Amino acid sequence: MRLTAFFSLAVAAAATYAAANNNQDPFQQWSGPNAGDVRGPCPFLNTFANHGFLPRSGKYITEKDLTDGLFNAVHFNANISKFLFDFAIRTNPEPNSTWFSLDHLSRHNVLEHDASLSRVDAFLGHADIFNEQAFEETRSYWGDTVNAKNGADAIVARMKTCKKTNPQYSLSELGEAFILGETAAFISILGDVKSLTVSKRLVEYLFQKERLPTELGWKRPDTPFSTDILLENLDKVGAEYAKRINSTSQGKRSAGYAARIFSYSARLF
Ligand code: HEM
Repeated sequence: MRLTAFFSLAVAAAATYAAANNNQDPFQQWSGPNAGDVRGPCPFLNTFANHGFLPRSGKYITEKDLTDGLFNAVHFNANISKFLFDFAIRTNPEPNSTWFSLDHLSRHNVLEHDASLSRVDAFLGHADIFNEQAFEETRSYWGDTVNAKNGADAIVARMKTCKKTNPQYSLSELGEAFILGETAAFISILGDVKSLTVSKRLVEYLFQKERLPTELGWKRPDTPFSTDILLENLDKVGAEYAKRINSTSQGKRSAGYAARIFSYSARLF
């Protein structure tokens, strides 16, 4: 065989091999829900289902599905997946269930709360579906880099808007702590877990497309993410949030939101 022909064959074989591997790589494999599939109010869990890290149907998610899925997608360790799973199964209307579906998470005031970053309040519409206007308000408070300070600005702004526009606005202590945890989580997972900063582009991409932003250069974190890290970062966002709430008429708050989540979960389980 001539040398050039050999090289052409080798290049073609390598390309086929790379394409085949790409086809099996869940980070590259994305497809939105099909008829009969369910999604919910959490942009991240929806994203993981869209990549096949969780069942694509969005249904019957067991603790093993969640643990494997969150490990493979974003390097969560088993303790944080168990921590989140124990909250999630509370949303399944069937008592003592061992699984949940993404649409169960939409049940208002179980975990789903008012004043979301990218959804309208349940009283005003579909609290489980991305809402451009709500998200527009949120991101107008973020700089090119999202951090604990401008993350807290966005949270407080959404709370004020929802309070003004929703006559049935309410937020439980758990809901408030979850809001802080959600911002801490998306910054930690998409950005730098230590400095708690992330490029706004990555966050917008995920919220708007419900897809992991690998084409913008995001990679699965190298270091495992745990409950301790989540709660530590939640309290960093909580400290900024408390400063803002305490300077308005919304009532005094002390920090220590992580402890609140723990005491709440201890009462539940
Ligand atoms: C079993 C695991 C999880 C459960 C049960 C869960 C549950 C929820 C629920 C119920 C909401 C809706 C809250 C609302 O706005 O009313 C939500 C929103 C959210 N979740 Fe998750 N989630 C999980 C995992 C994650 C992970 C791994 C992340 C990643 C970093 C994440 C980030 C977020 C964010 C940023 C929001 C806020 C969306 C918004 O306010 O528009 N969640 N999640």
